Amino acid sequence: MVQEYKLLIGGESRDSSTGETFDDINPATLENLATVQAAGIEDVDRAVEAAEKGFRVWSEVPAPRRAEVLFRAARILQERKEELAILMTKEMGKVLPETRGDVQEAIDITIYAAGEGRRMFGETTTSELKDKFCMTMLRPIGVVGMITPWNFPIAIPGWKIMPALIAGNSIVFKPASDTPLLAIKLVEILMEAGLPPGVINVVPGPGGSAGKAIVQHPRIRAISFTGSLDTGKWIMEECSKTMKRVSLELGGKNPVIVMDDANLELALEGVLWGAFGTTGQRCTATSRLILHEKIKDEFTARLLAKAKYLRLGNGLLPETDVGPVINKAQLEKIEKYVRIGKEEGANLLLGGNRVDPGLPGYFFEPTIFTDVRPEMRIAQEEIFGPVLSIITVSDFDEAIDAANNIKYGLSSAIYTENIKTAFKAIEKLEAGITYVNAPTIGAEVHLPFGGIKGTGNGFREAGTEAIKEFTEVKAVYIDYSGRLQKAQIDTE
Ligand code: UN1
Repeated sequence: MVQEYKLLIGGESRDSSTGETFDDINPATLENLATVQAAGIEDVDRAVEAAEKGFRVWSEVPAPRRAEVLFRAARILQERKEELAILMTKEMGKVLPETRGDVQEAIDITIYAAGEGRRMFGETTTSELKDKFCMTMLRPIGVVGMITPWNFPIAIPGWKIMPALIAGNSIVFKPASDTPLLAIKLVEILMEAGLPPGVINVVPGPGGSAGKAIVQHPRIRAISFTGSLDTGKWIMEECSKTMKRVSLELGGKNPVIVMDDANLELALEGVLWGAFGTTGQRCTATSRLILHEKIKDEFTARLLAKAKYLRLGNGLLPETDVGPVINKAQLEKIEKYVRIGKEEGANLLLGGNRVDPGLPGYFFEPTIFTDVRPEMRIAQEEIFGPVLSIITVSDFDEAIDAANNIKYGLSSAIYTENIKTAFKAIEKLEAGITYVNAPTIGAEVHLPFGGIKGTGNGFREAGTEAIKEFTEVKAVYIDYSGRLQKAQIDTE
């Protein structure tokens, strides 16, 4: 018997009003892990009501006390790291060392956010008037809606939930339908750690119903979303109708530039990890490799020699390098882009096909295209799979132009041994993140994460920016003169 999961509203497991369910499928084996009830508009309404009650309680708890709940949650996550990682590999396919990393990232952000409980600083400043004091303070926003993706099933919810909680908000949370279990586990851990009922509510279900109901709900004050550019644009438009704050983390088409003076062995390892780690399913994945023409032939040959030996299979097995892609739709999308690449005249150097490593799931070979021109669709559009496009350039300026010639701006990287080239690249690459001599993936939680152009709308998650996403700044004036003092008005 497959276990059925209900919604989590007001601290209780509740039946959905829709009567609908969906299956949680292991993408490697196609085994059904769980059946999950799908929330509808009425359920989101109930979740908002519960979150409003939760907010009244939680926002009055001093931030350092809220932190105690987070510290406890971090300890429980640490104790259950292996169990959660194994479940995550079953739920979304990536290999066990990476799912352990995902849980670790959630632990890191939980501890980091908890520390912010004693750092909710405002500013003090002078007034233009005598006997008057001015300061700013941070206030929670209220009920916040969160919609998260499946590729980091616990880390990305962690980036959103933990800073929002420490700041005193309450939450209505819709996890990705491919990874509801990890989300439910995370929330159960928070409750076990002592989070009061209603402070976080889970409403799984399709984006088109549960997600839409959250985005359109008049009493949700802010939306934090990670996902596709198209959905992000729709959310931004919808949120203008109810004047919600929106923070968006959208796609990427992240370049690695390898200059002719680079340490090629180092670059090679970085490109393999950046392009094919997580089966290419990271917003930060390396999807474009920009090679200096002088090292192009040698580098491509060495890359091919390594990439063709990557082993596909069940992510639970230690010999597996690359797990499955998440679902059938994604598999078909990748196939479509391989067709497009061929039609555009790119040269398929490696892969390009589904494979069967002895399992019925969604496996796709690591794929490399060479002779890609920067304007081709395979070099412009986010594929979100193990597909790497190689572009050749003749100098640094051309490399930067190719790197920047996209609508996204999340991550970027350059391999060079020349410090001047490295600093010029840091200055010129249009991206929220730039790596020198490291691949495009692997951001750490105490630095701001996010991008420019089509990748986002100016917010950053995690790091020193995390609290800003989930607080309002209030300016406070305290007049202790005992008389009416008028700012900006001339006095004789
Ligand atoms: C994502 O793919 O959306 O920087 C997040 C990284 C990870 C997070 C990726 N720490 O690659």
